[in-house]
Amino acid sequence: MTKLQGIRAVVFDAYGTLFDVHGPMRKLAPEIGEHAEAISKLWRQKQLEYTWLRSLMGVHADFWHVTSDALDYALEQYDVKEQGLKDEIMALYLKLEAYPEVAAALEAVKGRSKLTAILSNGSPSMLDAAVRHAGLDKLFNMVLSVEDVGIYKPSRRVYRHAMQKLQIHDAPSICFVSANTWDAQAAAQFGFQVVRVDRFGLKDDRIPGKPAALIKDLSELAAMV
Ligand code: LAC
Repeated sequence: MTKLQGIRAVVFDAYGTLFDVHGPMRKLAPEIGEHAEAISKLWRQKQLEYTWLRSLMGVHADFWHVTSDALDYALEQYDVKEQGLKDEIMALYLKLEAYPEVAAALEAVKGRSKLTAILSNGSPSMLDAAVRHAGLDKLFNMVLSVEDVGIYKPSRRVYRHAMQKLQIHDAPSICFVSANTWDAQAAAQFGFQVVRVDRFGLKDDRIPGKPAALIKDLSELAAMV
């Protein structure tokens, strides 16, 4: 097990890391049909692409807007048109389930006297809803959104925002945890000590930045910080 040195705060990505973004489509699969899983994957991929594209284009819209646009794209691609279905799926995005080990892992990290925070693309109201629904609200010192910065990850401005809010002036004192390869790698390139959670069986992307450790879920995390 990798033991990270000098960590003062543990900062988590939200979607895909703490919250299972494929839950809504799984739940509504009987209504959506045989392509539910493929639609969910395309939805997620387009959601992320739209964050990157909007950031490059300089035309920010919040994550609710982007998530809704991406869902429209994915449903249209698979010719799913049922009345009211889109609203149902979007409503479930505010009630995502946390992965089973998340609450205990956060308790354990707090037990080691580390600050805990979320740093996410999610808008404040989306994050507030997800954190409350999963019963995690007492387990974070801060829930930080890119909305305070006006650009999406992996802009360095977003990672810098976490340092400013946490009042931590040396990046390696922050352990950043993400299941998104590109987010984990960009945060490592920025200077955080990064733990990538391998929830999706993905290889590292061919971009700069190397996480310090790869874990299968968050249950190992507290012992590393
Ligand atoms: C987030 C996205 C990247 O929570 O999943 O920021």
